[in-house]
Amino acid sequence: MNAIGVDVGGTKIAAGVVTPEGKVLNEVRYPSSGPTERLLSSIARAINDVKDGYEVGGACLAVPGNILATENRVIFSPNLHTIEGVDLEQEMRRRTGFDITVENDANAAAWGEFRFGAGARYDHLVFVTLGTGVGGGVITHGVLMRGAQGAGGELGHMTIQATGPRCGCGNRGCLEALASGTAIQRRAREVAAEEPNSALGRLAIERRVLGEDVTRLAEEGDEAALSVLEEAGLWLGIGLAGFVNIFNPEVVAVGGGVSRAGELILDATRREVHLRARSPARDLVKIQPATLGPESGVLGAAALARDESGEYVLGT
Ligand code: BGC
Ligand code: NA
Ligand code: ZN
Repeated sequence: MNAIGVDVGGTKIAAGVVTPEGKVLNEVRYPSSGPTERLLSSIARAINDVKDGYEVGGACLAVPGNILATENRVIFSPNLHTIEGVDLEQEMRRRTGFDITVENDANAAAWGEFRFGAGARYDHLVFVTLGTGVGGGVITHGVLMRGAQGAGGELGHMTIQATGPRCGCGNRGCLEALASGTAIQRRAREVAAEEPNSALGRLAIERRVLGEDVTRLAEEGDEAALSVLEEAGLWLGIGLAGFVNIFNPEVVAVGGGVSRAGELILDATRREVHLRARSPARDLVKIQPATLGPESGVLGAAALARDESGEYVLGT
């Protein structure tokens, strides 16, 4: 059966009709901006529009933030406050006539990578997405780890540095506060001020430095930009070393916009994992870029809607 996957992000909503093999038959995108009522009607519109003319058996909504699965709610969303507190299942049933399930965005994307991407040949996968926030998803023995309330897998809010920068969640020194796109941008502006003669420093005098500038300047060999990415990679490695020790994954897949910097980040990450994680887990694990790009959320959410309706058999 086909299923609908909806990925609600900080700036846009993407909804797709996806086949059991992971092929997207139809896709729509709407902005996720505006107050709660506008957000809910945009999500409903995305579902209604995308399913038009297709036969679909289920739908799953992937949402950023700490979720309470039994109530289909997001309790706290550092980058999309308008979604907090709403009974999403009830709202979508009323607006679309469709029963949806609710999943954390990174958990859904992890499931996408597990079924169709970097984890397709494995049973033990840790997924980390580096974007505006940092999300995580853990699959162990082929099962998505959700914890008692469905709020598990929040890898981005693991404390890495006790006195580190403030995170959107209120804590200090979370992985998200050190290795997200937002964190890289903040750190790049600091380094630019310290190194005014670097390419990064000269750009910062002309205009605001963005995350993508850092990657571009690093690719051109600017030491200051390289050091910013290497530092983010180091923090990520400290986080991943912990996850490797805890979950003993075969693969850690790193996705999200920041992961476009690729080896400029992951080199330092691998070095740190090798220094800090224990054998034999650190010797087995492959730390690699995710392969589905921005589609992982839609693909994973749709697959979850289908798999959890009983069509998916473990180990197939
Ligand atoms: C949120 C997570 C989410 C991640 C990616 C974090 O700030 O706390 O729930 O998965 O961002 O969107
Ligand atoms: Na998660
Ligand atoms: Zn945090």
